[in-house]
This record gives sequence, structure tokens and C-alpha cells, in this order.
Amino acid sequence: MNKTYQLELVDNYQPGYSLAQGFYKSDEIYQKEINNIFLENWMLAGHASQIPEHGDFFLFEFDKESVIITRTKEGKIKAFLNVCRHRGSLICLEKKGNVRAFTCPYHAWSYNLDGELLAARLMNDDFDKTANGLHQAHVECIGGLIFISLAKDPLSLKSMQDDLKDTFDLFGFDRMKLVQQKSYPINANWKLATENYQECYHCSPSHKEYSKIHALAMSPSRLERYREAYLASKTNTIRTTPVDLYFDLANEGDEGYQYGRDPLLEGMKSGTNGGKAASMFLGNVTDYDGGSSEFMVGPVSFFLIYNDHMVGYRFLPLSVDTCVCDVFWFVHEDAEDGQDYNLDQLTWLWDVTTQADEEIIVNNQKGVDSHFYSPGKLSEMEDFQQNFLNWYLKALKK
Ligand code: FES
Ligand SMILES: [Fe+2]
Repeated sequence: MNKTYQLELVDNYQPGYSLAQGFYKSDEIYQKEINNIFLENWMLAGHASQIPEHGDFFLFEFDKESVIITRTKEGKIKAFLNVCRHRGSLICLEKKGNVRAFTCPYHAWSYNLDGELLAARLMNDDFDKTANGLHQAHVECIGGLIFISLAKDPLSLKSMQDDLKDTFDLFGFDRMKLVQQKSYPINANWKLATENYQECYHCSPSHKEYSKIHALAMSPSRLERYREAYLASKTNTIRTTPVDLYFDLANEGDEGYQYGRDPLLEGMKSGTNGGKAASMFLGNVTDYDGGSSEFMVGPVSFFLIYNDHMVGYRFLPLSVDTCVCDVFWFVHEDAEDGQDYNLDQLTWLWDVTTQADEEIIVNNQKGVDSHFYSPGKLSEMEDFQQNFLNWYLKALKK
């Protein structure tokens, strides 16, 4: 595929339809996505509770990139490219651990927790160690959530932090801990996974467990009536302000973000089997009000906030036709396993739902690979996906 053909695919996109096959198979488009999206936008890397002590680290990896997320002696969270400044070897081979310094296994150059080159064996006296520190990635913490950007000039997160400050305080974003992270590798292009997350048209046929708890699986007109009744009801005690600045609705120079609150089905308290309570309340929440919130930052990081726990979703490409979905479960930092929550009950809903998603996404890729696939008409329930597609096509053209 040459460049002209690729740009033609973007220009030939018909709004209201799914993408052409080339978007899910072309190496050239995939490389453009890595450059224009994954090296530009903010992504959830993990949580501060994964690295409580200085020298703790974990790796954040996608495509051909590996980033070390660590805590310095001063307690600051930093991110470095896992690429030695000598001849480029990976430095950290373990996915997580604790170190006093990062020492390259190849020729033993050694870097401190701030990424500065400490020692380079047998190099000449005129070798400038200060010019050979590790490449740094930008880090922004939203409460304990660690976001990174590999961009030279990252998009701003300031208006998101200002708009949602009260919401983050209410749900105690700085008083949570990560209690489970599961990776679900998917044999499909990353967009099929994120597009699937962005629409609930498939919820009713594909997620019977989810559809018994959440109202979002309803048809748009029924959901609208149900949502209005919920917002007007006395039980709705969490009055947060929705923000819709996601994807193509984002302001120029800002990372896209969205926050909203939706009703659960009658009698449901949380995202568990039977809608039962899952853990102690988050932050300043004091009751179950029959709702749950959604929050997203950037193109691949999504959160579902129940009154008593939060679930994070992140989609990352591994190659043109493989990706990984990581699911994170958070509870109040004081909650104890076995006492305040049960890990199996806490993780049940989004584990069964993600396993079902993996299957439908893989089947989607198989059909898209066929010679007979052609873009199909999107439904009203896929309008969020349409926003993603509008934004995505614009990002490819940059
Ligand atoms: S490549 Fe790291 S020390 Fe040589
Ligand atoms: Fe799904």
C-alpha cells in the first residue's frame, strides 16, 4: 500500500459507517497510528499504589515501546524510556521490581532513580555523563492514577483537572488503591477493541450479566426516559456535572475527556453479581444512589466509577492485528480483602464481560479480514464510536 492509497482511505471514509478494511490491516496505517496517536496522546500507565517505595518500578509497554515507571528518593513518580543511552539495550528486563539504580545488563551503564547516568565503565574522561540520562516521558497524576505522554509537547490536561476537581474529590481519587489488574490479549486490531468499548449496541445481545445491572443496554429512547426519571428522583444524591469534551469535541490543544453519570437498573447498588454492594464507599460517598459514573481521558483510557469501587479500562496495540485490554480494579485505600470486599465478587462482572468482549472482537476481526467485508451502517447507539472515528481520521492526517 502506498501513501496515496492510505490517504485515499481517509478521504473516502463515509460518515455514519464503519471503517474500510485497510484501517484494520495496513502496516502503514498502523505506523501512522503509533506516531500520531500513541506517541502523542495521554495514556493510563498504572497507579501510585503499585510503586509505594522509592526504587519500586513497573513497565508500561505497547507496540515496540517500553517505559519504566518509578518512584524517586523524593517520592516523585517519573517515567523513562527503557532504552539504554549507550547502544540502546533494554535496561529493565523484569516487568516490575525494586532497584537502587537501573543498571543496563549489556555493558553495565547505570542510571539513578531520576534517570541520570551515574556510571559508565571505562569511558574516557571527556565523556559527558550529564548529556546521557534516560529519555523521560511526561507524567501527570490524577489522584493516584498515573498517566504518561511520550509527546514532545503534550496536550494539556489542565481544564480536565479543573473541571473535574470536585468529582475527583467526591470519589476520593487520591484515596484509592489498585487491588487487581488483569491483561486480556486480543487477536484483533486495537481499534476493534476500543470501538467495541465505545458502544452499548452490543450489550444486550452479548452481555447478559452487564444488562441485568446497567441501564445503558436499553434502547436510546427508553434510556432517555429512565435517565430523566433517575436524575429527577430523590434517590439520586450524587449531583456531579457532566462534561462532554471527548474525541472530536475536545478543545484545541487539550486532551479529550468526558464524565457522566447514568442510572443502574432498579435496586442495583454496584457492578457485582445481583448488583450487591462490593466494598466500602469511595471518597466522600455516603450511600448507594442507584447510579454509576463514566470517566475517560484520551483515546484509550476509560473508567467506570461505582459508589464503592472503580474499574479502569485501557486498550493498547501490540502489533497491527493484536492488542491488549488491561482491566484495573480500585477500592478505597482502607478497604481490606476478605473483610470489606471479596476480590472474586469485586472482579466478577468486568471479568466475564471482558472475556465475552474478547470473543466478539476476535470474531469481528475475522469477518473484517474477509474479501467480502465492506463498511456497514452505524446505529444511533454507536454515536460515541462515530465521535471516535471522526477524531481518529483527523489524527491520521496530521
Ligand atoms: S547498551 Fe546499555 S550499557 Fe551498553
Ligand atoms: Fe462489551
